[in-house]
Amino acid sequence: MSAPSQARLRGFITRTTDLRPVADLPDIRLHTASDVMALMALTGRELGLADPPLPFWAFPWAGGLGVARYVAAHPETVAGRSVLDLATGSGLCAIVAARAGAAHVAAADIDPFAEAAVTLNARANEVEIAFMRGDLTQGSPPDAEVILAGDVCYESAMAAAIVPWLERAAGSGSTVYLGDPGRTYLPQGLTEVGRYRVRTTRELEPTTERDVGVYRMGAALPL
Ligand SMILES: C[S@@+](CC[C@H](N)C(=O)[O-])C[C@H]1O[C@@H](n2cnc3c(N)ncnc32)[C@H](O)[C@@H]1O
Repeated sequence: MSAPSQARLRGFITRTTDLRPVADLPDIRLHTASDVMALMALTGRELGLADPPLPFWAFPWAGGLGVARYVAAHPETVAGRSVLDLATGSGLCAIVAARAGAAHVAAADIDPFAEAAVTLNARANEVEIAFMRGDLTQGSPPDAEVILAGDVCYESAMAAAIVPWLERAAGSGSTVYLGDPGRTYLPQGLTEVGRYRVRTTRELEPTTERDVGVYRMGAALPL
């Protein structure tokens, strides 16, 4: 079966989610679901898959909420810069970066639903985001001045691919901000630059609030 078109996926997202403000970032609205399991079943039906992936794109995740709060509180970290939001999901971090005055914002994810969600969420928040579909960690890091990565350390193989790639990006001049609520594969020894208590949902987490660290790799860019 061929992949559904982006237009079809956008229609699916519009039907199955509500446009809601993000907790503690009330100016940002995202197409958000309320029942992860029900949405996952609908996603499977839409794609003809018995075992569909989690609808990551339908929620702001704790790590992304931390990065988004940090960028909103420190717009100078992205203002006038080129920014990449790796593993963007809903596009939350990319949207906040664009709102904070980034010169150019790209968002990357492997999930075709994320592309459709980012398109809709960018439109809802009146920002422009260039979407890149695919696994950028298979190649050299791009020359973005700032790379944002929210909640990318929850799976062993994923963290094993993404974390060294982020370290390489930091080594070649990008400043990376990684947000994480203490997932299993978060590396030790990162430089913490912020900590936020974020409001999330029992649909995704064991508690409705999580403490999220925001960690910087690479040097802070000069103001
Ligand atoms: C937990 S979600 C986080 C989404 C968003 N950053 C946030 O914090 O709300 C993880 C995302 O990583 C994406 N992902 C997984 N492996 C990836 C890879 N190698 N490259 C890009 N995205 C990836 C998934 O599709 C999913 O959208």
